[in-house]
Amino acid sequence: MRVLSFPPVSILIVGGSGYLGRCVVRQAVAAGHAVAATYTRRPGDADVRWLSVDLRVPEQIAAAFTAVRPSVVINVAVRSADWATTADGAARLAAAVGGHGCRLVHVSSDAVFSGRDVHYDENALPDPVTPYGAAKAAAESAIRALTPSAVIARTSLIIGDGDSKHETLVRDLATGRRDGELFVDDIRCPVHADDLAAALLEIAAGDGTGTVHLAGTDAVSRHELGVLLARRDGLDPALLRPGRRADSARPGALDIRLDGTRTQKQLTTRLRGAHEFLAR
Ligand SMILES: NC(=O)c1ccc[n+]([C@@H]2O[C@H](COP(=O)([O-])OP(=O)(O)OC[C@H]3O[C@@H](n4cnc5c(N)ncnc54)[C@H](OP(=O)(O)O)[C@@H]3O)[C@@H](O)[C@H]2O)c1
Repeated sequence: MRVLSFPPVSILIVGGSGYLGRCVVRQAVAAGHAVAATYTRRPGDADVRWLSVDLRVPEQIAAAFTAVRPSVVINVAVRSADWATTADGAARLAAAVGGHGCRLVHVSSDAVFSGRDVHYDENALPDPVTPYGAAKAAAESAIRALTPSAVIARTSLIIGDGDSKHETLVRDLATGRRDGELFVDDIRCPVHADDLAAALLEIAAGDGTGTVHLAGTDAVSRHELGVLLARRDGLDPALLRPGRRADSARPGALDIRLDGTRTQKQLTTRLRGAHEFLAR
């Protein structure tokens, strides 16, 4: 992992105890920033200042700003389709950022899209088809209105070195711990958590505004991703049963490819494709 060096700033990482949050915290500390991070259930392991902040509770947000006085806030908090957290909570945080005059980098999702157009660049407008996607889209709108100087960073499936929820699922399927299929018609542009965290910190240190796309360069189906993961982990990909989302009762978008060409041109951090970061 390459750690880019920027002048140290005081960063508040909201949702720092989550999967992506832990990675951002780790890299921010390694880069020498003064880091504080939030959790709701339990703090992460990193040796930073941990604050209990529930985005549904305005007083807790205000207390965190008073305690930390951050110059940058990176919001990676989410509670799936829970509107009070994912939509209202993100809006509440954006309002607090506006009041304190600091910079906001907010992580959004490819779930804001329906998949109807397949290819989505940074100018594409949300047309969500799931409650989670709708909450993420609502958060984007609120942030754009409340803090026009914010960066909204849409991303896709976040993969790491074995510990993401997507990797756990594939491991469970490939070892028979869980039964199920991986869709061949459900296509995304997975990103490595290290690349994503580095890009978020690079953006946090800059002065850009607006919407960016931080996704990997390869469009792969859930099944193809599973095969790549299984091969990397020495598991038998033949045990991963292919299926079609279109034939299933599971709602959700099919083919969503985040196009981050414009974003990548502005970044030093390179966002690798799944074939590269999952190569054995
Ligand atoms: N994972 C993916 O593949 C993926 C794909 C596309 C986009 N994203 C986006 O990437 C970001 C990070 O996702 P992730 O997978 O790292 O999520 P995660 O592991 O579920 O972590 C979520 C974080 O949000 C915190 N949180 C939950 N409810 C909260 C509340 N009411 N108030 C304040 N904080 C709350 C959690 O704290 P506790 O754990 O302490 O409760 C945790 O720190 C999210 O914006 C997500 O929408 C993720």
